Amino acid sequence: MKAIQVDQLVRRFGDFTAVRGVSFEVEQGEIFGFLGPNGAGKTTTISMLCTLLRPTAGHATVNGYNIATQPDAVRQSIGLIFQDPSLDDRLTGRENLNFHAMLYNVPRAASRQRAAELLALVDLADKADEVVRNYSGGMKRRLEIARGLLHHPRVLFLDEPTLGLDPQTRRHIWEYLLKLRDQEGVTMFMTTHYMDEAENCDRIAIIDHGQIVALDTPEALKGLVGGDIVTVSTSDNRQAAEKLKAAHGIEPRLGPEGQLIIEIAQGDRFIPQMMATFANSSAPLAVQSVNLRRPTLEDVFLKLTGHAIREEEAGTKDHMRMMRRMWARR
Ligand SMILES: Nc1ncnc2c1ncn2[C@@H]1O[C@H](COP(=O)(O)OP(=O)(O)OP(=O)(O)O)[C@@H](O)[C@H]1O
Ligand SMILES: [Mg+2]
Repeated sequence: MKAIQVDQLVRRFGDFTAVRGVSFEVEQGEIFGFLGPNGAGKTTTISMLCTLLRPTAGHATVNGYNIATQPDAVRQSIGLIFQDPSLDDRLTGRENLNFHAMLYNVPRAASRQRAAELLALVDLADKADEVVRNYSGGMKRRLEIARGLLHHPRVLFLDEPTLGLDPQTRRHIWEYLLKLRDQEGVTMFMTTHYMDEAENCDRIAIIDHGQIVALDTPEALKGLVGGDIVTVSTSDNRQAAEKLKAAHGIEPRLGPEGQLIIEIAQGDRFIPQMMATFANSSAPLAVQSVNLRRPTLEDVFLKLTGHAIREEEAGTKDHMRMMRRMWARR
């Protein structure tokens, strides 16, 4: 059985189609990432799979249960980690877990033991009896992860789990997620707009304007961009692009800061030729910076969609919206 099976899922809001027929499968024990810019349809998709939002069309199963006809079975079998503000910061970490266990009808004795195990897993054992008000942002997120796992879900859904955390804390959260997969075999479906994080996923679907534009391992996706990436900035990038076209038959892409991005087989050999082209004219172009590197997922995204993934942080509005939906449907 696949952990998640999605077939032509569609969601419309009035005249607007937020998710336009996405299909994919997630294997058991896999970390599957949805990578896309602001408004791509990530939260809408994850909300449908968690049964917080009804699909307009299409089918999906989670742990073998149909999201439309067996929503309660789906909910019992999954864990949710959204950036919801639902930790009670007047309670201790342990009390928050116990409260959540009650909501899920986890028997008391079993939940005590599970809570202790999970607090240890996310390195909060020594802070378990401290009120959450005194936790750092990273500690709160770790507690949310522990809480999402309390009822032994086989699939964990995470919507931007590290949003707003500093890089070191983000790395730590990832250590816990990878440990979880390895120790408990939990399948994870997550959304992110952090390229470096997406690299940790076993497979990634790149989503843009409600459609999946590519789906593969991070390595294979990067393989879609041929060779090296040369980035160059000059005194006149428009003119530089024309010269590159005329002299080398190359059409550079435009980067987020207006720099020229060139995909080329042997970048180290190309750079001196390019410099000669820029210098060699009646009006030579001054080169301000040149950079040579291997392709990243950002390059893949730019190549496939023609635009950069957003740089700004996603709003918490989505998460608030989702929480409201969840309570409305309970
Ligand atoms: N309840 C709603 N009513 C109307 N439009 C909505 C609703 N929910 C989402 N949308 C729209 O659907 C599109 C997809 O939204 P969604 O929240 O799924 O994007 P996202 O990929 O999660 O973006 P972000 O990275 O900002 O979280 C957006 O244009 C959004 O404005
Ligand atoms: Mg979102």
